[in-house]
Amino acid sequence: KPRILLDCDTGIDDALALLYLAPLIKTGEVDLVAAGTVHGNVAPEVGALNTLRVLEDAGVRDVPVAVGAARPMAQAVSLAAEVHGSDGLGEIGLGDPEGRPIGISAPEQIVRLARENPGELTLLAIGPLTNLAIALLLEPALPRMFREVVIMGGAFAHQGNVTGHAEANIWHDPEAAELVFAAGWPITLVPLDVTHATVVDGEWLDRLAAGETDRARLATRILVFYAEAYRRQLGTRGVVIHDALAAMLALDPALGEYATRPVRVELRGEHTRGTTLWDRRLHADEGDRPPVKVAVNVDVETFRERLLASLL
Ligand code: BDR
Ligand code: CA
Repeated sequence: KPRILLDCDTGIDDALALLYLAPLIKTGEVDLVAAGTVHGNVAPEVGALNTLRVLEDAGVRDVPVAVGAARPMAQAVSLAAEVHGSDGLGEIGLGDPEGRPIGISAPEQIVRLARENPGELTLLAIGPLTNLAIALLLEPALPRMFREVVIMGGAFAHQGNVTGHAEANIWHDPEAAELVFAAGWPITLVPLDVTHATVVDGEWLDRLAAGETDRARLATRILVFYAEAYRRQLGTRGVVIHDALAAMLALDPALGEYATRPVRVELRGEHTRGTTLWDRRLHADEGDRPPVKVAVNVDVETFRERLLASLL
């Protein structure tokens, strides 16, 4: 069964990824070994409490949650209150969780669990990549220690969601992302090109709102704020639940189609810092840059129905 080490910046769509995983964790189909948090949507201490809160609300306890990097490697920190709310969960006034973060940092936890479970874990990263980059610096053999690394991030043909070109998880720490893409571990990248294809509409949100589980109720409440942010972006009632798609593809890669290409991050562009690129030439000389599996197509209907079913 899949054994997942999560790295997140919980965050409304991160919370939806957790709510999607929760029933699978409870039935024992998925093992959520641990989670770590990073700056991004919110500060990592806040993200850790949010992660615990959402898991507890869904009836999942005893998952160790470690706080990670509070800032990017080479730029000022910047959070995303306008999309996720100042508390990261849509400002609905959720109380404190019962659990508390553990005493080691998220990058240390990544290294420790990788060493203890070589070749066994899937690292699912749905926030900026600072913790992964720090872990790579701490343990140079790390790329050989994971079964797979699934990352929500980047935009290729699709427009960016922070700048015209850059996607948030990459833009929040481009240097970290560049280290991660150069490292040579088995990465699957889930960019905006596919997450935006899975946008769910008002009818989907209404079906969710009619749900009677605690998960459906929590999801409905936190999605109100998110839907407002997306109305400004999309002009309609609908949301893009990026991180849940990455979680689903981590469990069921057959829902996607992939291009295998080396990926680079623009670090110096005047207008394009934080943009992900692949060389578009058919026979590009990629030097020694390792290839990455980039999702280019997904089974949209299955994603929408399976996510909804997991929440109802
Ligand atoms: C990504 O950025 C964050 O705002 C979301 O949680 C998601 O991980 C989408 O670009
Ligand atoms: Ca996220």
